Amino acid sequence: MKLLLTVVKHLHKPAVCTSPRRGLSSCASSGGLLAGRDATLIVGSSRELLQRLGSQVEVRADFITEEEEGAFMRELELGLKKKRYEFDHWDDAIHGYRETERLSWGAECEEVLTRVRSVAFDEGSPLLGPVHVLDLDKTGYIKPHVDSVKFCGSTIAGLSLLSDSIMRLVKEDATSEWLDLLLPRRSLYILRNQARYNFTHEILKDEESVFNGQKVPRQRRISIICRNLPG
Ligand code: OGA
Ligand code: MN
Repeated sequence: MKLLLTVVKHLHKPAVCTSPRRGLSSCASSGGLLAGRDATLIVGSSRELLQRLGSQVEVRADFITEEEEGAFMRELELGLKKKRYEFDHWDDAIHGYRETERLSWGAECEEVLTRVRSVAFDEGSPLLGPVHVLDLDKTGYIKPHVDSVKFCGSTIAGLSLLSDSIMRLVKEDATSEWLDLLLPRRSLYILRNQARYNFTHEILKDEESVFNGQKVPRQRRISIICRNLPG
């Protein structure tokens, strides 16, 4: 899966603006996470950027149930446990990870993946066959990169299991423009078009895992990632 990634280094500028979850239309008053269902899941460098990216960035909390998360773990844990986390390749885009791909799934997982595909991709959009499974150690992280435009299409959709985490998007040619996405355990995120092509994305390491001023402790995290094919 390494060939899917191109690492890009960048500088990060301080926070300015927040928006309510899903709708990117307005700017919340100030810092701090809101409790409950209306929690803010996306903050960014400006209100204008949040509006401009609109539906190209989505985080849906509670996309899967605890039972469904358990079903994925039952299918994946044995295979993953046989692999060792990789830490020592300094030039890798991902640090502290093991991964696998899976083409066919048991009924419960397949049902979830059908739901992911139906909300993330246009009908008939040809998808990358195997689903990518990435297991990040508690100390693991993903450096800023853009997924390969040669192998992946306009949309990336990922489920997060086992841990909350923060995904940071930074505009490649204007690093003062950025968004932080709080990805709660069992949420789905979707990146489309500009958000996928013109911004790097990364998953922050535990020491840097602060969302809108609030620490978001990182545990082991597994992501289940669906992609489409280039058009
Ligand atoms: C990737 C990636 C994000 C995630 O594998 O290219 O960006 O949610 N993964 O694990
Ligand atoms: Mn990626």
